[in-house]
Amino acid sequence: MSIRKVGVLGCGLMGSGIVEVAAKAGLETVVREVNQALLDKGLARIQASLGKAVERGKLAAEGRDAAVSRIHGTTSFEALADCDLVVEAIVENLEEKKRTYAELDKSVKRSTIFASNTSSLTITQLAMATSRPERFVGLHFFNPVPVMKLVEVVRTLLTDDGVLATVQDFCKTIGKTPVACKDNSGFIVNRLLVPYILDAIRALEEGVGSVQDIDEAMKLGCGYPMGPFALLDFVGLDTTYFIANIMFEEYREKRFAPPPLLKQMVQAGRLGKKSGRGFYEYTRA
Ligand code: 3HC
Repeated sequence: MSIRKVGVLGCGLMGSGIVEVAAKAGLETVVREVNQALLDKGLARIQASLGKAVERGKLAAEGRDAAVSRIHGTTSFEALADCDLVVEAIVENLEEKKRTYAELDKSVKRSTIFASNTSSLTITQLAMATSRPERFVGLHFFNPVPVMKLVEVVRTLLTDDGVLATVQDFCKTIGKTPVACKDNSGFIVNRLLVPYILDAIRALEEGVGSVQDIDEAMKLGCGYPMGPFALLDFVGLDTTYFIANIMFEEYREKRFAPPPLLKQMVQAGRLGKKSGRGFYEYTRA
């Protein structure tokens, strides 16, 4: 089986990126948001990113126009009915995801493959909330999706071999490199990355260095493209907080426990780039 039509649930930071790469690769793409305002915001983000790709010489103007013509926004589940693959990229909340999958399961054809872009929930528990656990995988993308090459492909004990091969081919079609992972919370990247960024916050709390100095140290000392605080602001402090809580719940290890400063910043609405302020301040464009 090959994927010709893709559905994406959620048009936030990750969902909009997934829509963009699928449409750029020539696939018909339907994106569903919960309301028109969020959909419009997500579609505008895709337009801006495609515009940036043209500006950077990564995409021809005709390629941008063709990609836009393949993107269809909706607020209904029924519009996803004949998608070959649906990638879910909604908020990192188990109950919300389960409710969404229940609706989706009723609305799409039997052969549709389901994939979750979850960062930290296990795929098995999501798959079991549907009537098709054998047609369910994890496809974990990285931010910014149009630029980052990796997709973690997660299989469960129940995933069908043919389904796995199909989604691996899909990743290659959209220009990504798939890496196989076992279904454990955080997969490979967040298993290693989350303790690192939480430790940077703990280092700040302990006065080891300033935000700027810790970032500069990791950029210049390790060659990372961003320091941990710039990365936290980029990913979103709320998203990181959700992920850390889920991983802590799963492993009960201190290295995954969100430090108090992270919790307080989320409570104070300092969510990073998206709210205009996190560890750094951002002027809105
Ligand atoms: N479309 C296509 N290409 C684009 C683009 C777009 N919208 N925007 C930028 N690019 C290209 C640029 O042309 C450039 O390509 P080149 O290297 O061939 O010239 C490249 O992407 C880098 O772009 P910029 O020069 O604008 O930006 P920087 O060099 O400052 O890099 C960055 C920006 C890619 C975000 C870099 O800082 C980086 O890699 N940061 C780390 C990101 C990271 O770690 N992401 C993972 C987060 S964890 C996650 O997502 C998991 C989740 O579960 C939390």
